[in-house]
Amino acid sequence: MYRAASQPWDQRRCLVGQSSTKVTVATAEVGLSLPKGTTVISESMEGALSEQLNHEFYSAYLYLAMSAYCSHNNFNGAAQWHQLQFEEEHQHATKIYDYLMDQGVHVQLLPIPAPPSEFGSILEVFEASLAHEQDMTGRLNELSDQALKEKDHATYNLLQWFVNEQVEEEASVGGIIAKLKLVKDDGYGLLMIDNELGSRPASPAA
Ligand code: FEO
Repeated sequence: MYRAASQPWDQRRCLVGQSSTKVTVATAEVGLSLPKGTTVISESMEGALSEQLNHEFYSAYLYLAMSAYCSHNNFNGAAQWHQLQFEEEHQHATKIYDYLMDQGVHVQLLPIPAPPSEFGSILEVFEASLAHEQDMTGRLNELSDQALKEKDHATYNLLQWFVNEQVEEEASVGGIIAKLKLVKDDGYGLLMIDNELGSRPASPAA
């Protein structure tokens, strides 16, 4: 379990007379205005989004590790590409964090695991990246299913932004892998691809 039963949001739920999945605004019954920090998403969705926030931070961490590997192996374009990906993932984490704050959640951050630092080759870097993004897509699809099941349309709308983003990310990385497989170990080909990766424009804010 990622949190103990006695944490503040559980106490809050007791205060407004909630027992399980969904907080309805009970303030009218007790004659109070909605206190700062009162959640309007379910407890299970709150936990699931907190975990997704952690996965987005791990994604940022992973891409920074990949950038370091590329830079160390003189693929400076690929290093720059992963640096931008690191920044994008940080924006994704911030987007979920901001949403949780807007929903009145007292966000409690989870530990971020250490990413790998060795990848074997530039192709392996991008293959690891694609595998990671496919894993993220699966997680976001499951979260979307949960939001629909709970009729939580606000969270569902947030998640659809992420689901669409995954389509673009997987396509982008898949295209790079295809080019790397074409050139194999050809130095000139790798140099061309690295130059192309280095010209990636920064993404607009999420
Ligand atoms: Fe934010 Fe690439 O997952």
